[in-house]
Amino acid sequence: MTLPSKVKLVDVGPRDGLQNEKQPVPAAIKVELVQRLQDAGLKEIEVTSFVSPKWVPQMADNAEVMAGIKRKPGVRYSVLTPNMKGFEAAVKSQPDEIVVFGAASELFSQRNINCSITESIERFAPVVAAARAAGIYVRGAISCAVGCPYEGEVAPERVEMVARLMKGIGVQHMGVADTIGVATPLKVQRAMEAALKHYELNDISGHFHDTYGQALANTLISLQMGIWQFDTSVAGLGGCPYAKGATGNVATEDVVYMLHGMGIETGIDLDKLVDAGKFISDYLERKPNSRAATALLNKRS
Ligand code: HMG
Ligand code: MG
Repeated sequence: MTLPSKVKLVDVGPRDGLQNEKQPVPAAIKVELVQRLQDAGLKEIEVTSFVSPKWVPQMADNAEVMAGIKRKPGVRYSVLTPNMKGFEAAVKSQPDEIVVFGAASELFSQRNINCSITESIERFAPVVAAARAAGIYVRGAISCAVGCPYEGEVAPERVEMVARLMKGIGVQHMGVADTIGVATPLKVQRAMEAALKHYELNDISGHFHDTYGQALANTLISLQMGIWQFDTSVAGLGGCPYAKGATGNVATEDVVYMLHGMGIETGIDLDKLVDAGKFISDYLERKPNSRAATALLNKRS
């Protein structure tokens, strides 16, 4: 078994995490969270999304947050852009990377972005072309790669189809997402194998929500396949407003603890990361949703 010696984690907490909060989170708090994540050594942060404020009010301050962050050399800042309107707004704030997000499930596509899978690809095509012409890297996400809140189990063939369509319009990287956290390791392996039909190992990442407590196991099986890029969320924040009942992404702290314990480098300072998670959890008046963070905070006191 050969495991990667280094792993890149993209912290999606400011976006996937905070998009789902009931209470408004001021832009200044989001900016401070991004600052703390980069200080902890994160090399990529998903900052916000340029989606409709009617659909996701929590991300309405996208431009303000992007203008407020103090960029650190070597750190990449990504944003979600579902259509040209979103891209045109996003490009003004100079993201390093944009994310077009589709789904392997027809009903989730309709509920999340109000169009079919085919229509979503038609909407993404000009976004991808414009981003690439502007030298902005394009990541794609396939939601519901294993299971859907509306359709149930999702076959790997669906992932293969969306990966092929995304590849066809020039999407450079494929994030395989278990939106509702129902996946188990062998199902993840099959979804990854489906994406690998169209994307290189180096251009695939895993995005695992932890609803059923399977995300670390799903990360491990992906590592065993050679996948070395993952989206994680500080303090386990996260969820999608259009995937009811789904909890947050796997906590960055838990993944870092596991990887460091396996001798795999991340470039992340776990103590500083725990502080970042405590900062946002204190603001939200709850405890970090991370076993590793809880253990380390208990040990400190
Ligand atoms: P729509 O209503 O079909 O859009 O929404 P439309 O083109 O018909 O436009 C309707 C109105 O929205 C118009 O305004 C547009 O200007 C406006 P009006 O004339 O009525 O005043 N509009 C926009 N405003 C701001 N930014 C935009 C934009 N586009 C249109 N980009 C749309 C389509 C995609 C916009 C909508 O469905 C939407 O915003 N959905 C957001 C979904 C979302 O953010 N979900 C959460 C993120 S995805 C996720 O969490 C999954 C992920 O983590 C991976 C995983 O876990 O699976 C990535
Ligand atoms: Mg997500």
